[in-house]
Amino acid sequence: MLWISRLLLLLSLTFGHLGAPAQAQVQAQARYDHTRIYQVELASAEHVQLFQALELASDSCSFMGHARVPGQKLTIMVTSHKVADFDDLLQSYNVSHRVLNHDFQALIDANYREVAPKGTPPDQFDWRRYFQLDSIYAWLEHLAKQRPEVVTLVDLGSSTQGLPIKGVRIAFGGENLTSVFVESGIHAREWIAPATATYFIEQLLNSKDAAVQALARSQNWLIFPTVNPDGYRYTFKGDRMWRKNRSLFGICRGVDLNRNFPFHWNVTGASGDPCRYDYSGPSAGSEVETQRLVQFLKDHVQSERIKTFISLHSYSQLIMFPYGHTPERVENYEDLKEIGQLAAQRIKEKSGRIYRSGSIYETIYPSSGGSKDWIHGLLQVPITFSYELRGPPDSEDLFILSAEEIEPTASEAFAALQTILEEAGKRGYYQSEAATTDQTPSSSSSSSNSI
Ligand SMILES: *[C@@H]1O[C@H](CO)[C@@H](O)[C@H](O)[C@H]1NC(C)=O
Ligand SMILES: *[C@@H]1O[C@H](CO)[C@@H](O)[C@H](O)[C@H]1NC(C)=O
Ligand SMILES: *[C@@H]1O[C@H](CO)[C@@H](O)[C@H](O)[C@H]1NC(C)=O
Ligand SMILES: *[C@@H]1O[C@H](CO)[C@@H](O)[C@H](O)[C@H]1NC(C)=O
Ligand SMILES: [Zn+2]
Repeated sequence: MLWISRLLLLLSLTFGHLGAPAQAQVQAQARYDHTRIYQVELASAEHVQLFQALELASDSCSFMGHARVPGQKLTIMVTSHKVADFDDLLQSYNVSHRVLNHDFQALIDANYREVAPKGTPPDQFDWRRYFQLDSIYAWLEHLAKQRPEVVTLVDLGSSTQGLPIKGVRIAFGGENLTSVFVESGIHAREWIAPATATYFIEQLLNSKDAAVQALARSQNWLIFPTVNPDGYRYTFKGDRMWRKNRSLFGICRGVDLNRNFPFHWNVTGASGDPCRYDYSGPSAGSEVETQRLVQFLKDHVQSERIKTFISLHSYSQLIMFPYGHTPERVENYEDLKEIGQLAAQRIKEKSGRIYRSGSIYETIYPSSGGSKDWIHGLLQVPITFSYELRGPPDSEDLFILSAEEIEPTASEAFAALQTILEEAGKRGYYQSEAATTDQTPSSSSSSSNSI
């Protein structure tokens, strides 16, 4: 076997140094024909160990989360040539399960048909279809041209593959306002996230609702729909299920940018293996895209008075706040918990959808190196929330949300954002600088919690 590893090393060195092939080639596209989505229920510690071992051993099973505790339900994508083995394993160990989907490619094909054609003019941008990176950027540029007094194009700098990381600053001109920063699309396959971010922009600029107009003018806004442009572009031409960035490490590519932020980096819920979906990278903050965000936020957190940070992900219907790397509570835990619950309540009233709220650690699973933890823990941005948008935790579609769900998903997320800002405002988080020299305003309920 030694010669194989030598060969792989040689290949990786070769490709590693040459980077992308110089001439544009027709790119092979990943296919998921007869790939199945299973939901398994881990009944015992033995089951937990079984699936932990399986995740390490098999490249043919993609886990959505990791096996951790008995009683847990786990979603696993199994490629077609492994479904017989996998099914046999379930029988052998008496694992109760459901098949959520028998042919994932059919879903992906349908999803690609819901993408607006390349070159769709920016005045035809909408929330009934998905848009490619170029179209999103063209739309942002169009807005900046149309409304120069309100919208400014902001470029965080280029990604490794040379794409800009574009967003907008929206400011109606109020004096000394605090700012809201929206980070979206850090995970490439979560297409609903950029679609929701652009919906936020649209609402802030064009809503006829007086409450929304007042909200839009009560803050300045920094909104970046696709902070992982290379990954997002790759989901259209290479692999719809791509999550990470596109850097090459030996035989595998990609760092999970949301495990790469330099704050309690790589302590839990992150992998040291580049072939895994949650690879934390060779070192804290190693990735260009991470560095762009870190630098911009460091440079602007004071000057723009960024008090609110929202990141958009899918799926599972959660509204989460820090921390992810520890069960310890942030200093304003009680405020964030109340605000999160009110936001979830707002969604339930609006659309009937159930979103759960809590800290990342409590709500989803332990993870480290996420942008939220860094923003809150290091830059001390007090109001920090991360959404997992539709579908529900037992979704049959995973990240492949049909386009007819864009508008309802984005509008419930926007309603929740309104609640977050209103409630944080009531609790004094956006008072002018003169009034609040402390990072966190005093809050009746937060006294006993310390980080
Ligand atoms: C298989 O699991 C079910 C519950 O999931 C249990 O009722 C049953 O006794 C188990 N059978 C065996 C042979 O362990
Ligand atoms: C804005 O800040 C400046 C400088 O701190 C201050 O002089 C001014 O009164 C503030 N304006 C408002 C509307 O708070
Ligand atoms: C991803 O990670 C690599 C390795 O750290 C980094 O060099 C690269 O800039 C990142 N981005 C892309 C698009 O490869
Ligand atoms: C990150 O953590 C994993 C798991 O504990 C470990 O195997 C890996 O070596 C760590 N990475 C680095 C660069 O320290
Ligand atoms: Zn995500």
